[in-house]
This record gives sequence, C-alpha cells and structure tokens, in this order.
Amino acid sequence: MTVYTSGTDTTHLPPMSDQARLGQNIYQDKNCIACHQFYGLGGYMGPDLTNVISTRGEAYAGAFITSGTARMPNFDLSPDEVSALVAFLSAVDQTGTYPPKNYAVAWNGTVSQEDDPR
Ligand code: HEC
Repeated sequence: MTVYTSGTDTTHLPPMSDQARLGQNIYQDKNCIACHQFYGLGGYMGPDLTNVISTRGEAYAGAFITSGTARMPNFDLSPDEVSALVAFLSAVDQTGTYPPKNYAVAWNGTVSQEDDPR
C-alpha cells in the first residue's frame, strides 16, 4: 500500500500552547463545530473558521466569541476563555489555507499556481 504524505508534514509547526489546547477543549465543549467548519468540514450555519484570524484578526474573532450575534449564541465566556479560543483558532490558522489556492493545469499537464483568489 502507498500512502502519499507530500505536503502534509506539519512538523515545522510549533506545538500547540497550553492556552490553545484549553481553547480546543472549549471549542469541543461548546460544540462550535455544529455551526462552523475547519477546512470546509463541520456544520454550515456559520462561516468557515480555518483562516479567520489571518483574514479578520484576533480582535474581530474575539468580539464575535464574546458577544455572539442574532444567529450565534453568546456563550457567556470569561475573557480568559475567549483568549484561549482565539489562541486555538490562531493555531489552526497556521496549519494551512482554506479554500485551497487555484491551480491551472496546462494542455501538457504542467500545473502552475495562480494567485490566491481570496
Ligand atoms: C448556533 C450556531 C453557532 C454556534 C454554536 C457558534 N457559532 Fe460562531 N457564528 C455563527 C454564525 C451564524 C456566525 C456569522 C455571524 C452572523 O451571521 O450573525 C458566526 C460567526 C463567528 C465568528 C466570526 C467569523 C467570520 O468570519 O465573520 C467567529 C470567530 C465565531 N463565530 C466563533 C465561534 C466559536 C469559537 C464558537 C464556539 C464557542 C461558535 N462560533 C459557535 C453561528 C454559530
């Protein structure tokens, strides 16, 4: 059997901090994945959160998590819990880009990377 692992190596990433691990526990405990996705997988009521930190910023994400919206519940989280969730989202963000970049395939099979469409 052959397992293709090219491009899946994450050993260059720093280990998740304790704060990010706490955030992951809260993410699971509050079932954020019921409405949100990472890499397109999850529930579809809210947006994909894979790159929310690099595209929108920590303050923006923290504000949503602190207050909720008409469609997202307010979970009554403490400032430390909000920071932990932001640290977790930040750690997820460093693992890759979603949606994936566009690749153009030429007539001869050559694949070239186009600009990120976002
Ligand atoms: C019941 C569904 C639901 C749950 C559960 C939920 N969210 Fe949301 N979330 C939403 C919706 C919907 C939005 C988009 C804002 C809106 O339309 O009001 C959103 C927006 C966000 C945003 C801003 C994203 C962006 O790109 O604008 C972040 C960050 C976020 N949620 C984080 C979380 C976290 C962390 C949790 C768990 C603690 C969580 N959400 C739980 C529904 C949910």
